[in-house]
Parts: sequence; structure tokens; C-alpha cells
Amino acid sequence: MLDFGKVYKLLIKIILMTSSIDDKKLSNFFIRWMIRRDMPEVFGIENASFEFPWLEEDFLQNLRQRNCIGMIGESSGQVAGFMIYQLHNSGIHLLNFAVSPQYRRKRVGTQMLDKLKLKLSDQKRKNICLEVRETNLPAQLFFRENYFRAFSVLKDHYSDIPEDAYLMTYRHKPILQEPLEESLKSRYFSKLKNLLRVA
Ligand SMILES: CC(C)(COP(=O)(O)OP(=O)(O)OC[C@H]1O[C@@H](n2cnc3c(N)ncnc32)[C@H](O)[C@@H]1OP(=O)(O)O)[C@@H](O)C(=O)NCCC(=O)NCCS
Repeated sequence: MLDFGKVYKLLIKIILMTSSIDDKKLSNFFIRWMIRRDMPEVFGIENASFEFPWLEEDFLQNLRQRNCIGMIGESSGQVAGFMIYQLHNSGIHLLNFAVSPQYRRKRVGTQMLDKLKLKLSDQKRKNICLEVRETNLPAQLFFRENYFRAFSVLKDHYSDIPEDAYLMTYRHKPILQEPLEESLKSRYFSKLKNLLRVA
């Protein structure tokens, strides 16, 4: 027999989930080029995010390269997050990526990655790669949630302490016509599947 109590609870869960699927997103958020004036806030986020942060010199050295680009995620006039990446012929190498602690778990990181994914194509740049510390589990989970996969281990990759890195890669998916909408849809359906499993 149909258990109406269960069905009712399930419907409520689905309604709540549908309405809250993206209520984490900041409404007044946008992504733009990094400019010199952003640097104090960028250094602040860098220092709050990493045990071994880049120094000012590291930022300058990288950003001076012709193929290196800095982008900012901005919300209400504040730097919420940043990313620094290199453009190569066949792909994109993410060198530095961080979200301000006060803006975390609000899809800032995901939206910055979505922006980067739009630069991929079937013809030219087909993947985004990055190195993540073996001990940085939150970042590994974040990138996995955004469809990056670990493909190899780079032994003793860092100069600060002996630590391995995972090389994580996102591959362009040619079948997706609208990557943002599709990734949202698949996230929605995997959450829906989990709900149905527990109900
Ligand atoms: C990793 C980081 C960039 C994530 O940014 P963010 O804006 O908070 O991420 P999002 O809100 O877009 O998260 C999307 C999903 O990723 C996963 N995720 C993000 N942070 C996570 C964490 N700390 N633990 C587990 N899963 C996490 C979750 O599935 C999350 O969805 P949910 O919030 O609905 O559960 C941010 O925590 C950060 O700046 N960390 C310090 C710097 C760093 O490690 N950079 C990466 C270097 S390789």
C-alpha cells in the first residue's frame, strides 16, 4: 500500500531542494580581470588560505608571463576569490585558486571554475589541470565535485615540505551544449537520486 506519509515527506523534500538548489549562489557576484588595486585583498585571501602562501614576488613573477592570467570573483565591491592560470596550446594550467573564508560554500569557487571551463573547446584547449596537495582534502573534494579527476601522483612535488601532489584534470565534454545548465542539472539529479534512496 502507498504510504502517504512517506510520499508527503518526499514531496516536501523535493520542493525544498528545488527551491534551494542554488540559493547558495551570491546574487551580486561577477567575475572580472584582476587589477593591481586588487592585490592587497588577494594577498589577504592567499595568506588566510594556505600554510605556505605565495609571496608577492611569486604573484608578480607569474603574472608577468604573457600566457598567465589573473581573474577575480567580486561580490559587493569585495574580492571574494581569485584564480591565476596559464593558457597553453592544448589546455589550461591552474596555478593558484582560493576563495575568501567568509565567502566559502557559496558557489564562488564553482562559478570561477565554470567560467574557466567556458574557455575549453573541442578544437583547441581541451583540459584544465592543477596540482593539489595530498593533505588538502577540502580542495580535492571541491574539484571532484566539479568533475575534476586525479590522474597521477607527483612525488615530493613541493619545495617547502616533502609532500606529494595529485595531478587533477578536467576534460572538456564535447556533448554538453550548455555546460553551466548541464552541470546544474546533473548535480540536481544526483541529489534527487540520493533523496529517493533514503526515502
Ligand atoms: C577549495 C575552495 C576553493 C572551494 O571554494 P568554495 O567557493 O567554498 O566552493 P563551492 O561553494 O563552490 O563548493 C562546491 C562544492 O564543492 C565541495 N566542497 C567545497 N568545499 C568543501 C570542503 N571544505 N569540504 C568538502 N567539500 C567541499 C562541496 O561539494 C560543495 O558543495 P556544497 O557546499 O553544496 O556541499 C575553498 O575552500 C578555498 O579557497 N580553499 C583554500 C584554498 C585552496 O585549497 N585552494 C585550492 C588549491 S589546489
